[in-house]
Amino acid sequence: MMLSHRVGRACHVLVLVLCLSAAEDFDWSANNHDSFYYGTFPNGFSWGAGSSAYQTEGAWDKDGKGLSIWDVFTHKKGKTFLNDTGDSSCEGYYKFKDDISLIKEMNLNHYRFSISWPRIMPTGIRSDHVNEKGVKYYSALIDELLEHNITPIVTLYHWDLPQVLQEKYGGWQNISMINYFNDFANLCFERYGDRVKYWITFNNPWSVAVEGYETGEHAPGLKLRGTGAYRAAHHIIKAHAKVWHTYDTQWRNKQRGMVGISLSGDWGEPVDITNQKDIEAAERYVQFYLGWFATPIFHGDYPQVMKDFIGKKSAQQGLGTSRLPTFSSQEKSYIKGTSDFLGVGHFTTRYITQKNYPFNRGSTYFSDRDVAELVDPRWPDPGSEWLYSVPWGFRRLLNFIKTQYGNPMIFITENGVSEKMMCTELCDDWRIQYYKGYINEMLKAIRDGVNVKGYTAWSLLDKFEWDEGYSERFGLYYVDFRSKNKPRYPKASVQFYKRIIKSNGFPNQREVENWKTKATETCSTSNQLLAADPLTSHMEMVTEVVVPTVCTLCILISAVFLMFLLRKRN
Ligand SMILES: *[C@@H]1O[C@H](CO)[C@@H](O)[C@H](O)[C@H]1NC(C)=O
Ligand SMILES: *[C@@H]1O[C@H](CO)[C@@H](O)[C@H](O)[C@H]1NC(C)=O
Repeated sequence: MMLSHRVGRACHVLVLVLCLSAAEDFDWSANNHDSFYYGTFPNGFSWGAGSSAYQTEGAWDKDGKGLSIWDVFTHKKGKTFLNDTGDSSCEGYYKFKDDISLIKEMNLNHYRFSISWPRIMPTGIRSDHVNEKGVKYYSALIDELLEHNITPIVTLYHWDLPQVLQEKYGGWQNISMINYFNDFANLCFERYGDRVKYWITFNNPWSVAVEGYETGEHAPGLKLRGTGAYRAAHHIIKAHAKVWHTYDTQWRNKQRGMVGISLSGDWGEPVDITNQKDIEAAERYVQFYLGWFATPIFHGDYPQVMKDFIGKKSAQQGLGTSRLPTFSSQEKSYIKGTSDFLGVGHFTTRYITQKNYPFNRGSTYFSDRDVAELVDPRWPDPGSEWLYSVPWGFRRLLNFIKTQYGNPMIFITENGVSEKMMCTELCDDWRIQYYKGYINEMLKAIRDGVNVKGYTAWSLLDKFEWDEGYSERFGLYYVDFRSKNKPRYPKASVQFYKRIIKSNGFPNQREVENWKTKATETCSTSNQLLAADPLTSHMEMVTEVVVPTVCTLCILISAVFLMFLLRKRN
């Protein structure tokens, strides 16, 4: 008794000492996932919503616009859900004034959109032709935003590469993209930089590299397994650095703006936080994702673990050099420090464990990592198959960025959740729940000392969701795509987000719960606008989906249960 008592006390003291010495650092082992924090954001915190050109504009062949790789990709059959295209999408090209009034209505501080490269340079090459009608469109959009006191945050590359550059050079496989992209960026700084102060070079280059050049699920649809993604990423990182230097030397003095990049990344949590192999696997998952791009930009070179793993696997294949390209020492110092802020896109989390891939089946980006991804079947997944709502992962990712990259200034450039196509429900309480949870974890991260300056809800409107066509709706506003003029209807989450913005956070429990009630009240009336929908035709589909889903859930739960049992035994 005495002994155990003493040991207990010693432990207690030890824990106290550890806690005190770690007071400044984020507690990675704490497990208080569910406690909600009531409080407000720092003054001047910027609230916004986002979109991208190909996903919303439509007008794919209007006013002198050239073809992008996404126009060509979606016009081939079998590439997207129901062979859908972004040809007309939300008709955002014609309705931008209406959309800005929606933004104004929500009292947003900023709006994030992207410029379609082939709309202002039809072949992608400046010396070929500049399409003044396209230039004017974005100029009018920027003016309209500023007139309403909304700060434009402008993305230069949100995936719509001019098709000519793909055909002639192989797109991002070719080093010549660096100069063409720099010319395009330079034209944007020249024409819009007097009014635009926040520039994002690339949106989610991970997706461009992996889905465009490795799996082929996205345009240009190439399947260059094991090499394509690494080469595309290499050129994108160099192109980003070049554009940052162009702004820095030619425009910064006059225009006084900032240039950053927007990286996306899931959080990876070790399945077993006491197992060193799981811890290393989870770290590798995050380094191969966000770290692939962030480490060169903040530290000058790829993460050591990527160099080690891809190098080792290349050697096993009998290759003389690594499939991961290398930067010269000159390039390293040129690339290091080329982001005035970091844009972060984040949606979901995975549990990660170590998994070895046999190398006889050919190497890919995915087998290079040696990880397996797991999910907890209790996590809500209202929309996209990959998108589980795990708010606490957001805080962890933000703390990871703070410690790895020297606490950079961060703008959240994408965060949100989708719903399935057949869901015409405007009372989107699961989206309210998602935003509430994620925004709260962001607030906790700010209290941890992470330097987050703004938040962008993704997205303003339902829109074309790439290979998923129109089957996944991310919008705060519902868009009726079957109607010719694409009317927009507010979902309940619009009301809820407005209240967060108005209070600049979450004042107290009673009020926040009241917001939710109020938001769902208003939507049930506006919901009637959609009452004419052929909802009954979805009834069968729902039952068809429910039965297999329940079965899958049962199997998953038993699997997880088994796993825990087995682990306990070992
Ligand atoms: C999409 O195109 C493919 C190839 O032509 C065709 O087999 C398929 O039925 C099309 N899907 C729809 C929904 O039209
Ligand atoms: C890059 O483009 C040039 C010009 O078309 C071509 O000669 C070269 O082979 C291309 N390089 C790659 C890696 O595709």
